[in-house]
Amino acid sequence: MHRTKAPQIAFGITILAGLGLLVLYAAGGHPQFEGLLWFYALAGLGVGIITGANRYLPQGRSEEERHPLASSEETIAAAKADLRRADLPEGAPDKERRTVLRLLGGAVAVLGTAVMFPIRSLGPDPSEDLRRTAFVKGVRLVTVDGRPITRDQLEVGEVVTAFPEGHTKAADSPTLLIRYDEERFLPAGGRAGWVAEGLVAYSKICTHAACGVGLYQSVSGLLLCPCHQSTFDVNNAARPTFGPATRALPQLSIAIDSDGFVVAQGDYDEPVGPGYWNRPGDS
Ligand code: FES
Repeated sequence: MHRTKAPQIAFGITILAGLGLLVLYAAGGHPQFEGLLWFYALAGLGVGIITGANRYLPQGRSEEERHPLASSEETIAAAKADLRRADLPEGAPDKERRTVLRLLGGAVAVLGTAVMFPIRSLGPDPSEDLRRTAFVKGVRLVTVDGRPITRDQLEVGEVVTAFPEGHTKAADSPTLLIRYDEERFLPAGGRAGWVAEGLVAYSKICTHAACGVGLYQSVSGLLLCPCHQSTFDVNNAARPTFGPATRALPQLSIAIDSDGFVVAQGDYDEPVGPGYWNRPGDS
């Protein structure tokens, strides 16, 4: 690198590396190349600032002898002019200095823009997706292998994992369909119409940390989450009775269609799973 052109070349490298970062981010990103370009961008910036300072800023100490008498205006003006020029290295005209300053500004601007792009790494805006599942009004509940569930498929105390028809891979939709003991079941306030012919449906996703609530003790009417042992009372709106979960399993309103299949009456009326996002009543 030619000594006198070192700042220009260094800032030029920073600008090229910054532009490369912009192109790379726009094309989808590549961690190894991004790291390499960041190295060149920051190294160029550092080298440019150091060599530019050495070349264009006054070097060494500047001292002025204290004078007992005030100087004339002309003497002061001449001294100021001398000071401006005296300690600058030779061969650094004003035009060249301005060019280097512009390149420095350009390098910082390009890098500043490139720094904004990693925000994309936060992923797409989930918007309402976290609040909805694939259940809609009238969709049949099916088993994991896609078979529609009929009104008389379950005996009292039996449970099956159900999904909305056509969405058996939907991670937010697994639902426990349970035939409850009618003598012990207490429908939650306002939810008398949410059950259908002795069947009740609750989200299978634990409200503590999203494990699958997979164990059902029909004798006690309790659902057990195997991860941290939270239990939920099927006969009492799936409210937690033990363990770290503090929120009941969301209930899905269901009905029986004219062909005798279990269908949803709509989506869950609250987000399923843990309270990772704000919802009324969450602590
Ligand atoms: S995930 Fe269910 S108790 Fe922790």
